[in-house]
Amino acid sequence: MASIFAFYFFMELVNGIYTIQGIDVAEIARQFGTPVYVYDGSKIASQIKSLKNAFSDTDVRIKYAAKALTNVSILKLVKQNGAGVDVVSIQEAQLALGAGFAPAEIMFTPNCVDFEEIIQGVELGLTVNLDNLSVLEKFGKKYGNTVPCCVRLNPHIMAGGNYKISTGHSNSKFGISVYQLQEIMQLANRYQIVINGLHIHTGSEITETDVFLRMAEILFGIAQDFPALKFIDFGGGFKVAYKQGDLVTNVYDLGLRLSKAFKQFYQSYGRKLELWIEPGKYLVSEAGYLVVKTNVVKATPSLTFAGVDSGLNHLIRPMMYDAYHEIINISNPGGTQKVYTVVGNICETDTLGADRKLNEVREGDLLVFKNAGAYGYSMASNYNSRFRPAEVLVVNGEAKLIRRRDTLEDLLRGQIDIF
Ligand code: LLP
Repeated sequence: MASIFAFYFFMELVNGIYTIQGIDVAEIARQFGTPVYVYDGSKIASQIKSLKNAFSDTDVRIKYAAKALTNVSILKLVKQNGAGVDVVSIQEAQLALGAGFAPAEIMFTPNCVDFEEIIQGVELGLTVNLDNLSVLEKFGKKYGNTVPCCVRLNPHIMAGGNYKISTGHSNSKFGISVYQLQEIMQLANRYQIVINGLHIHTGSEITETDVFLRMAEILFGIAQDFPALKFIDFGGGFKVAYKQGDLVTNVYDLGLRLSKAFKQFYQSYGRKLELWIEPGKYLVSEAGYLVVKTNVVKATPSLTFAGVDSGLNHLIRPMMYDAYHEIINISNPGGTQKVYTVVGNICETDTLGADRKLNEVREGDLLVFKNAGAYGYSMASNYNSRFRPAEVLVVNGEAKLIRRRDTLEDLLRGQIDIF
């Protein structure tokens, strides 16, 4: 059955109705209420497939960056499609283990955590990635040559959509500087640490293949000094389109060129290694839609606002990164276009989209935010004591609830009334 739906990779307008895998999106909103996150499972599957195809010439291991969207059903879907997972906290690791990932398939890349958390990672059997010299020293003292680890390097490359999501530059808190290689080697020798992987993640939304190739050159140069490698991890950061005409990472070009460089490298290294990548946005961003209802249309002397039943509590990216999320009025596809500022109902200036041309918006109309799959729900909060949305996954032409909307009990859970 799945192949029947395999062609519907985006929400599309069919006979005046917006559909995902043939299902009316407005019907999903009626059934599950708004605001609701809706994910298209076939899009996630097709993104994984495209990466496998792009890197088919090498032993690629896709480690989905779970922080983008951690719902257990999504994790299971990712696993069913043959990917592993990358986690950044012991809690994400526990979710991944619960979803059925084998411990060794899980890459654990924490930063600035208590060493206890790293011990827990080792005890769970995860592949542990260390990003600080003091942590490497503690690791060496505790485990010597009994537990291998990966090392995260900072290559001093500025890359990615903007400063806030760039992680490999010289002022970044992430990774051990490539200029501290000597110290890494000294610790490795002193404690006989078995370093079985090298890792770099330079940031999110990197469009240029050349950035990855520069990163690769740095890694290949360093890798010769590490005889026990099993893999090299090039991180994530592949850019998808947020609006028409956006530059994106050409994963086919990347796959071809990186695989070629990798092969040349491991021939001189003397042994075949695995090539790891950690896509988050690439796998889930375009698969997700946030469907909201317009509560009010508010015309002021300067602007017309569409005020919706959501806000920065559900989708923080526009306010946090000035991110652009395309908005569509799915209730009025033929309506005359007008300009709106789409805002949430939070007691903050929570502008979700400024100066947007939308088909006329009437109170009650459903608006859809695109690219809501990555860092949407996973960064959502209960600010203003509002409920986080429900989540729905469309698989094999069926819309299934994968998380119910919060309730008052959720808001009170954990609170202790001392009066
Ligand atoms: N690997 C590591 C070690 C990471 O820290 C990240 C993201 C990824 C992989 C996946 O990056 P992606 O492929 O999704 O670009 N919240 C921000 C993005 C922050 C990403 C943090 N690390 C946003 O909404 O744009």
